[in-house]
Amino acid sequence: MATVLLTGGAGYIGSHTLVEMINAGYDCVVLDNFSNSSPESLKRVAQICGKEFPWYTCDIRDEETMDQIFCNHEIDAVIHFAGLKAVGESVEKPELYFDNNVNGTNVLLKVMQKHNCKKFVFSSSATVYGEPERLPLDETCRLHTTNPYGETKLQIENNLKTVYQKDNDWKVVILRYFNPVGAHESGLIGESPNGIPNNLTPYISQVAQGLLPYLRVFGNDYPTPDGTGIRDYIHVVDLAKGHLCALEKTADTGLFIYNLGTGTGYSVFDVLHAYEKACGKVIPYKILPRRAGDIAEMYASCKKANEELGWYAKLTLDDMCKDLFNWQSKNPYGYGEEK
Ligand code: NAD
Ligand code: UD1
Repeated sequence: MATVLLTGGAGYIGSHTLVEMINAGYDCVVLDNFSNSSPESLKRVAQICGKEFPWYTCDIRDEETMDQIFCNHEIDAVIHFAGLKAVGESVEKPELYFDNNVNGTNVLLKVMQKHNCKKFVFSSSATVYGEPERLPLDETCRLHTTNPYGETKLQIENNLKTVYQKDNDWKVVILRYFNPVGAHESGLIGESPNGIPNNLTPYISQVAQGLLPYLRVFGNDYPTPDGTGIRDYIHVVDLAKGHLCALEKTADTGLFIYNLGTGTGYSVFDVLHAYEKACGKVIPYKILPRRAGDIAEMYASCKKANEELGWYAKLTLDDMCKDLFNWQSKNPYGYGEEK
């Protein structure tokens, strides 16, 4: 079985993908600079899978150390999760985001080219669609970014197109994730945000846990059935499995782009009520004004991934909430200590 390098493999999506990859028999190597994660997630992955794997503390901007990793292992393909992802922080520190995400990816691609490793799966985001041109969003929809984080994803996508145009031996799969939520059913790995969460489901789960007083619902005057924002939430384990299909696709030369979502949109209240059901508690909330930069509604067309990758999201919103509640209950402070 091929050896696959996962950059950012200690992070939320990377760690869940690692479990699926190891269980599918891949030899995996991880590199991470732990800027937004901890080696604890890797220990937990080894515990779930009953198997150790090599991992390195390494920054993707560090060409020398990455070169050494490619010398140490015969790497057949790379799944590239490493990147900074906080929209608000990207507005405050755009240079950091361009350096870490865009420049970092360029360094990685250079090292791969040197070692003749040309299979690449990239974590892009539905954020590249910006305000949706039409719904459901398909891969041909207009691209339009509204913040530096989104711009880094779009620039990397464009750089990958250039890499492929210059050298048709590359096999590139760009995955545009919608809203990944939930956790592994073991409750051993999950999302461990630093500080107060920005995203909806970690926030709800911390309110239910009594760590935050109430959910702030950002706007109930959108043109949606209940007035709150609608998103395409996808269970992180379904998303992780999509990477195995994407990896199989790297048997073909070319550059392929796929949305990974469920195709169904849920409102903030839908998610709140599903989580209440999972945890058996009423969760307090207050309506606040809209959050700057938010859009009313987005959900994916996953037809292309269904047809070309044979991949389907199978888990429901109830599964997402049940598994998030299990993770949150067993790890109230994520991988960290009580602050
Ligand atoms: P995460 O922060 O949990 O994981 C990213 C990992 O990359 C972390 O472990 C971090 O320490 C590492 N990292 C960051 N910069 C690095 C660098 N320069 N060198 C080495 N390691 C570095 O985030 P995630 O939610 O697992 O996201 C993974 C990828 O998917 C990211 O590229 C993100 O932009 C993208 N994505 C995430 C979402 C989401 O909602 N979670 C949605 C769309 C796209
Ligand atoms: C955010 C990011 C986006 C990223 C996506 C997936 C912003 C502006 N956008 O988008 O770039 O691709 O996550 O990681 O941060 N909500 C509340 N209260 C909260 C949090 C959220 O009401 O405390 C609402 C939001 O208004 C939105 C929905 O819940 O309607 C989902 O929000 P969130 O989880 O932050 O995801 P996105 O807005 O899709």
